[in-house]
Amino acid sequence: MGPKPHGAVRFLLNGEVVEARGVDPTRTLLEHLRGDLRRTGTKEGCAEGDCGSCTVLVGELDGQGETTWRAVNSCIQFVPMLDGKAVITVEGVAGAAPHPVQAAMVEHHGSQCGFCTPGIVMSLYGRAIAAKGADAPVDEVLAGNLCRCTGYGPIIAAAEAIPAEAAPDVADQLVGLRRETTLSLEHDDAIAGVTRRWLAPRSLAELAETYAAHPDAVIVAGATDIGLWVTKLRKPLKTLIDIGQVAELKAMSRQDGWLRIGAGVRYVDALETLGALYPDLGEMMRRLGSTQVRNSGTIGGNIANGSPIGDMPPALIALGARLVLRRGETQRTLPLEDFFIAYGKQDRAPGEFVEAVLVPLELGGGAMFKVFKLSKRFDQDISAVCGAFNIQLQDEVVTSARIAFGGMAATPKRAAACEAALVGRIWNPTTVNAAVAALGGDFTPLTDARASAAYRALAAGNMLRKAYIESARPDLATRVPEAAAHG
Ligand SMILES: Cc1cc2nc3c(=O)[nH]c(=O)nc-3n(C[C@H](O)[C@H](O)[C@H](O)COP(=O)(O)OP(=O)(O)OC[C@H]3O[C@@H](n4cnc5c(N)ncnc54)[C@H](O)[C@@H]3O)c2cc1C
Ligand code: FES
Ligand code: FES
Repeated sequence: MGPKPHGAVRFLLNGEVVEARGVDPTRTLLEHLRGDLRRTGTKEGCAEGDCGSCTVLVGELDGQGETTWRAVNSCIQFVPMLDGKAVITVEGVAGAAPHPVQAAMVEHHGSQCGFCTPGIVMSLYGRAIAAKGADAPVDEVLAGNLCRCTGYGPIIAAAEAIPAEAAPDVADQLVGLRRETTLSLEHDDAIAGVTRRWLAPRSLAELAETYAAHPDAVIVAGATDIGLWVTKLRKPLKTLIDIGQVAELKAMSRQDGWLRIGAGVRYVDALETLGALYPDLGEMMRRLGSTQVRNSGTIGGNIANGSPIGDMPPALIALGARLVLRRGETQRTLPLEDFFIAYGKQDRAPGEFVEAVLVPLELGGGAMFKVFKLSKRFDQDISAVCGAFNIQLQDEVVTSARIAFGGMAATPKRAAACEAALVGRIWNPTTVNAAVAALGGDFTPLTDARASAAYRALAAGNMLRKAYIESARPDLATRVPEAAAHG
């Protein structure tokens, strides 16, 4: 028996406490704002996290008792995920007069049809009140906000004119909303003919117990995938277990040569640390989704979903990462590559969940680590191919190679034949060409909307060539500078 259902979802909306009682746990924040609360300033464009017109800010207490505000896509956040948090919508930005963000958008002609404008105002307001404030790159902040009318020049001009300002402090109110026990909700979905249940345990032990009792439940982390199961696939989900309230899963720590990243750690919280350890990984992560997606999505979710085109697994496999799984009291650790068995099949038993991923804090001497993400757009696009290369050299000879690709097979996968063609050989164009040829034995890629099989195969080989060129000729410019990439 799990905990008895009780209570309502409580959160702050533009400074006022809101109670959502009897709400379907898979109702999105956007639907709740527009449909139930009649706050229609927030717009729906795509309902799949792509366009940013539904952007709102979500505030949470950080470890130091301060409120951290982040832009998220309200179309793929479920209402119970807001429990104990604060939300600012476009209605909460202006006072008696337009806010400086709104005034700048007017002044610089940053709006035409206006459909994207509330979302852009929220992203720019989020930038103005963030710790980095007006120093945060505008392109990065706006990569998840699509505008079909203005051509972006006027919006960027507006963004550059907006001064930084202090973030609203709602810490005391958030402390007042803090819940000590599991949030447990039940709702009868008459159309789907299911009783839907939402459980949000407060600790790792409680999560392990709850999932063991409901092994058929769907675990919800950032919902950047699961949100679409509801808004696009209309999956009739029954029991959902939210791991977003489990503090232990949100922690990162260093121990015994490993960086331990809890399964609930969001990209935004890991990016700086991982980028400092492995700059290429940081560069790739800054192109993963958008600011809004990175503010919600977790690395644990990117691994657990088993997608063949998830961006983190190839890099983490090449680094030699390990995965910590837990079921009840039992914990086990395995090399990350062993987790991916076949398309849609991972080495995870019913009731077992991802607890953490362990990333080595350093690679051996003489190691180079490179990651290349190839997608049709620079930002906010899933990879056609993602290649990661961890190659160790001693006196020009390759002493070890860990190479992994996404988008080349039914799972993220190591390139065993390619690695074998490198190890023990001199790191030169002849060896690299032989290793590129060996990739043909490793992968039979598919043709789909993102790329043809032939293009994928060519791109994968060229990524290895690029790794070689960058190591042999560091003076050559091989990367698109970000400013140019954003055009
Ligand atoms: C607009 C947009 C752009 C995107 N761009 C990219 C991109 O560039 N690259 C990329 O790789 N991905 C991208 N994604 C996909 C998505 O953001 C990532 O896969 C993300 O990491 C998923 O994490 P999450 O926390 O949101 O997972 P959720 O949606 O909450 O869950 C995803 C899956 O993992 C399971 N799960 C989550 N946590 C656990 C756990 N601890 N234990 C067991 N199971 C668990 C869930 O049950 C579910 O099956 C994009 C998504 C959107 C909407
Ligand atoms: S409506 Fe497009 S991102 Fe939410
Ligand atoms: S002003 Fe029309 S979509 Fe941006």
